[in-house]
Amino acid sequence: MSLTTFSPLPETRSGTGAPTSDLPKTPSLSKVTVPSLLEKKLLRQPISVVTAYDYASARLVDEAGLDIVLVGDSLAMVMQGHENTLAITMEEMLLYVRGVRRALRRALLIADMPFGSYQIDDREGVVNAVRFVKEAGAEAVKIEGGLSRCSLVRRLCDAEIPVMGHIGLTPQSVHRMGGYKVQGKTIDALEQLRADALALEAAGCFSIVLEGVPRELAGMITRDLRIPTIGIGAGPDCDGQVLVLHDMMTMSFSAPAKFVRRYADVASLMRDALVTYKHDVESRTFPSDEESYHLSRETRELLAEKGAVIG
Ligand code: KIV
Repeated sequence: MSLTTFSPLPETRSGTGAPTSDLPKTPSLSKVTVPSLLEKKLLRQPISVVTAYDYASARLVDEAGLDIVLVGDSLAMVMQGHENTLAITMEEMLLYVRGVRRALRRALLIADMPFGSYQIDDREGVVNAVRFVKEAGAEAVKIEGGLSRCSLVRRLCDAEIPVMGHIGLTPQSVHRMGGYKVQGKTIDALEQLRADALALEAAGCFSIVLEGVPRELAGMITRDLRIPTIGIGAGPDCDGQVLVLHDMMTMSFSAPAKFVRRYADVASLMRDALVTYKHDVESRTFPSDEESYHLSRETRELLAEKGAVIG
């Protein structure tokens, strides 16, 4: 059993009522939409994005007022323990997206299309993207790749499905790249990525993730485009930033990449809590009498009359 009712959105974040912390106030509590993200770029307001894969963490992200929750295929690694993102299937992604959907009221929900769900042909890509919207409540999908994905982006836009592009270090290309390496470091490579970004924008993407590229290139692409860029390992000049929740919370088990900032050490908190719980169980100090249910006095008396031994 778990109590999961929604409490009202805290008014303090919109500036009314007593502030509960020193955190900056969220400018608006209205629903984040594709047009509102484009407006943020025009207004030069940074866009905050984080991954989440389950109801509880997605709910915390939404309550904290972040703009976008991405159910990234990074879940194959951080939730399922795979060594890369390639193994996760459509059915698995749908399951996670549905749980996150139930947690969100304000943030925009983007589903990452898994490897193999859109690479074979555009028709299959559209069919799978429709499943994310129809069966799991996603409001947009994300696909990896540049020029070669533009026909699919157009088909998705024709189907009324907003698309986020993703270029630079694209984890689904790990075998082609020969590992996770910073992209766009030569003149040819950076010009290719600039062309990819412009082509994705022209095809209809509403935003593009720039992953693992030099800061200077991310700044150039951000200035080239009307749509917002969301950086991860791409420096501070993008229109927004995204981090993998498990990395920023220290819930992943390898050394973090250079661009990861650790905002909490959840693994240490959980380890300490689990060791304490084990100790309490083994020393019989958990649960206490106060943490136990009791028979009524009448029932205990009836049992006593029957000669029952009550512990
Ligand atoms: O899968 C993922 O989490 C991502 C983000 C890192 C952009 O693609």
